[in-house]
Amino acid sequence: MDTAVEDGADVLSLSLGGGSLPFYKDSIAIGAFGAIQKGIFVSCAAGNEGPFKESLSNEAPWILTVGASTVDRSIRATVLLGNKASYDGQSFFQPTNFSSTLLPLIYAGANGSDTAAFCDPGSLKDVDVKGKVVLCESGGFSESVDKGQEVKDAGGAAMIIMNDELSGNITTADFHVLPASDVTYADGLSIKAYINSTSSPMATILFKGTVFGVPYAPQLASFSSRGPSLESPGILKPDIIGPGVDILAAWPYAVDNNRNTKSTFNMISGTSMATPHLSGIAALLKSSHPDWSPAAIKSAIMTTANLTNLGGTPITDDSFGPVDVFAIGSGHVNPTKADDPGLVYDIQPDDYIPYLCGLGYNNTEVGIIVQRPVTCSNSSSIPEAQLNYPSFSIKLGSSPQTYTRTVTNVGPFKSSYIAEIIAPQGVDVKVTPNAIPFGGGDPKATYSVTFTRTANVNLPFSQGYLNWVSADHVVRNPIAVTFE
Ligand SMILES: *[C@@H]1O[C@H](CO)[C@@H](O)[C@H](O)[C@H]1NC(C)=O
Ligand SMILES: *[C@@H]1O[C@H](CO)[C@@H](O)[C@H](O)[C@H]1NC(C)=O
Ligand SMILES: *[C@@H]1O[C@H](CO)[C@@H](O)[C@H](O)[C@H]1NC(C)=O
Ligand SMILES: *[C@@H]1O[C@H](CO)[C@@H](O)[C@H](O)[C@H]1NC(C)=O
Ligand SMILES: *[C@@H]1O[C@H](CO)[C@@H](O)[C@H](O)[C@H]1NC(C)=O
Ligand SMILES: *[C@@H]1O[C@H](CO)[C@@H](O)[C@H](O)[C@H]1NC(C)=O
Ligand SMILES: *[C@@H]1O[C@H](CO)[C@@H](O)[C@H](O)[C@H]1NC(C)=O
Repeated sequence: MDTAVEDGADVLSLSLGGGSLPFYKDSIAIGAFGAIQKGIFVSCAAGNEGPFKESLSNEAPWILTVGASTVDRSIRATVLLGNKASYDGQSFFQPTNFSSTLLPLIYAGANGSDTAAFCDPGSLKDVDVKGKVVLCESGGFSESVDKGQEVKDAGGAAMIIMNDELSGNITTADFHVLPASDVTYADGLSIKAYINSTSSPMATILFKGTVFGVPYAPQLASFSSRGPSLESPGILKPDIIGPGVDILAAWPYAVDNNRNTKSTFNMISGTSMATPHLSGIAALLKSSHPDWSPAAIKSAIMTTANLTNLGGTPITDDSFGPVDVFAIGSGHVNPTKADDPGLVYDIQPDDYIPYLCGLGYNNTEVGIIVQRPVTCSNSSSIPEAQLNYPSFSIKLGSSPQTYTRTVTNVGPFKSSYIAEIIAPQGVDVKVTPNAIPFGGGDPKATYSVTFTRTANVNLPFSQGYLNWVSADHVVRNPIAVTFE
């Protein structure tokens, strides 16, 4: 990271990371602090350890922590069964010469062999799959493409891969070596039940190419790591979600093992694929607003994010269930709006020092992060939630808590904002002042927010939003309240 800084990079994109660590032991957090001191934006993967809580990587507040969502594109491979039922799956390999005639269908694990159920290498030697469509389960000791190779080597005509329960409804478009389709776990169970229901099950796969406009996209990927942050629960993480499922990109070699091919593209999934999308958007914002700090760019991305999908309903996870702010952070990135956020929450590198002292780090530990001698004292420490962050994450007991924030107007010189509060259940939120007029020359304004528990709600946590609304902007700040 230091070398990239020396090279004059503008944005660092890190599709890597370990688990939660104290920031003074986290080499990415330390490297990123050096970068933001030079005005360089750092975006990092949130991790692929979801859907489990507290599974984040890269939790430092000076990093943009990126989760992964689906996109509205599907590379469709529809499984058609002998009973006329059909299931939309995906395959990146889309043969044009595969017949739509129904072929015999078998479940490779029908006789109880686990390795055959997974179509692991060598497992189909003694199974008669010749000319058949073979249903394999994901998992075991092989990746999807290798399962296809096993089916092909054993003489199979085509393969259906069913997801396991955990990967659920996120199908992947792989570059298979034979006609294939990856279907959801639920669809896989239906196909198994059909195989059981008849003495001569039949199936084929219909290749339909690229389909756009999936209305329930973006959906949060099950694998996307979730908060709360372990190292700093007072900062809401992840910050944002972006495209990270079935992302099409250049690949270093031909995916079909053919030296003469131009197919040097592949599709893979992960928060590693979401991260560079956000890095690219940060680069766009940096070029249209060269004077914005990394924190300002981050704020612009977060306060303008989408909470709804393309169908106009709230973003869900891939089981179509609700998602909370510890799953999607501020929401799904909306680059156009991020270019014109109205207000930003700025943070200068030195502003992180009182925050780090407030985390309870000693002088040596803070010094490791900021790379110079630091003297922490009570008067130079702040609670985590007092950092000028574009979201709120607090632990609330019976005493009210007050935090301040400073916003900077980067929109029209004369504009007037009103606070709109969508209070978390069981919490009273009071904002002072609740109206901010800009136009007098000072582009900055400070407000305070007081959170008070109003009722004993039987919830581990509760969430809401503080929106600053003007005639032409909505600056949205998520609020997460964990009760204690
Ligand atoms: C389809 O075309 C591929 C590539 O030309 C060939 O290898 C394969 O045997 C063909 N399949 C059928 C069913 O004709
Ligand atoms: C299961 O066993 C039967 C009887 O030996 C055999 O006909 C069939 O092909 C086997 N199926 C699989 C998937 O191994
Ligand atoms: C997949 O989505 C369906 C709704 O279409 C839902 O009922 C099911 O629970 C989901 N399955 C998994 C494993 O997430
Ligand atoms: C299919 O039948 C087998 C054996 O009779 C049974 O163990 C399995 O649960 C059935 N699967 C489905 C999906 O009905
Ligand atoms: C975000 O919302 C806007 C409407 O405000 C919509 O035009 C856009 O397509 C949405 N983006 C995504 C990825 O859902
Ligand atoms: C700070 O904490 C470290 C352990 O992380 C310890 O080794 C060191 O002595 C402490 N330094 C001071 C100045 O207290
Ligand atoms: C700092 O605050 C802590 C806890 O409130 C207290 O125990 C300690 O004495 C204070 N230190 C100083 C130097 O005031």
